[in-house]
Amino acid sequence: PYPVYARMRAEAPLYHNPGLGFWALSRHADVSAALIDSELLSSDHGPMLDPGAWGPHVRGYLSFVAMDPPQHTRMRATVSRGFTARRVAALEPMIRQIVRGHIERALEHGTFDFARDIAARLPLDVIAELVGVPPSDRADIRRDSGALFDAGPAGAMSEEGVKGLLSLGGYYRTIIAERRAAPRDDLVSVLVADDELTDDDIVAFLFLLIGAGAETTAHLLSAAWYWAWRNPGQRAAAFGGAIDRWTEETLRYDAPAHGTARRLTRETEWYGVRVPADARMWLLIGSANRDESVFPDAGVYDLTRDTRRAISFGAGRHFCLGAPLARLEARVALEELTRAVTPDYDIDESGIRRTAHGNVRGMVSLPTSVK
Ligand code: HEM
Repeated sequence: PYPVYARMRAEAPLYHNPGLGFWALSRHADVSAALIDSELLSSDHGPMLDPGAWGPHVRGYLSFVAMDPPQHTRMRATVSRGFTARRVAALEPMIRQIVRGHIERALEHGTFDFARDIAARLPLDVIAELVGVPPSDRADIRRDSGALFDAGPAGAMSEEGVKGLLSLGGYYRTIIAERRAAPRDDLVSVLVADDELTDDDIVAFLFLLIGAGAETTAHLLSAAWYWAWRNPGQRAAAFGGAIDRWTEETLRYDAPAHGTARRLTRETEWYGVRVPADARMWLLIGSANRDESVFPDAGVYDLTRDTRRAISFGAGRHFCLGAPLARLEARVALEELTRAVTPDYDIDESGIRRTAHGNVRGMVSLPTSVK
């Protein structure tokens, strides 16, 4: 399991790749300390390894995952009002209804693509609902946001993809204008109530929700489905009702957000090696979650283990804003799946396809057959 990460943790806990120009930390202690010390490690060049992807030229536009305090603190305070526990909990019936619809449609045939037909759809539909997109427009959102998922490792997009995003941006602007004219009790209304946020800021945030919240949650669902299948003993526990354990162990074992990047703000030493100021740092969440010194037998998928120190949602200031929502979606989806499908489902391993995205790890195709 993850032999390269295991070697890095053992032999090169500070790994330097001069060719690609980055330094990586892979041990749990180092990755979590680095995430928390946002003064030493700045987010100002965004979370992607290639700083060009989200460099300073787009800073301020591309959203607050790429900001430092004080701008980050301000913006985070506003958007957090749109993600309160009350607002998230209130989404449960809607999430259940959406997921039931997807499961029902998928089960019309004996085989379906779990990743495409269920996992990729639910989070995007939930975000559409959060943003106030009517159900009749959901298919358009799926189409127009495709480029955010199909982007290559360096974030490159096709011309078609860019067109889709422009169209989505225009659509969002219409919703923002509507909420400015007539506020409701919803997320976009909370954002427009903040005088300091421009339409551009809000559009950037709504894009971030799709980028940060849809693909990651989709990968979590597919990974849960896949690893339960690969581990029949654990599958029995999962189908026996250990839904939250199933979610948490999957988050640890196969972290959907595998890594995030930072800029080192001043020269710092790790393991006797000096890393210069402005170095690009790659923080390997996926490796930290498999660190044997924190998780004994880390390579074993085990629903009974203590997962509390997993850092799948990051840590510190940029801790995932959507963690409660992702957990709620996973719980509802897995509850509904265990009701609708018997545990003897099968997966065609030869048909599995994975994303090439640099920060995110997961399956985009997961052929499943049910009895
Ligand atoms: C930030 C993971 C779902 C919205 C983050 C970060 C991680 C993460 C690791 C920190 C990035 C960094 O420090 O550079 C995940 C995983 C998810 C998930 C594994 C699903 C299993 C969601 C959902 C939403 C969301 C459902 C919202 C709909 C955000 C936002 C940020 C963020 C807005 C930026 C927070 C900030 O910069 O202050 N997420 N996420 N995420 N996530 Fe999530």
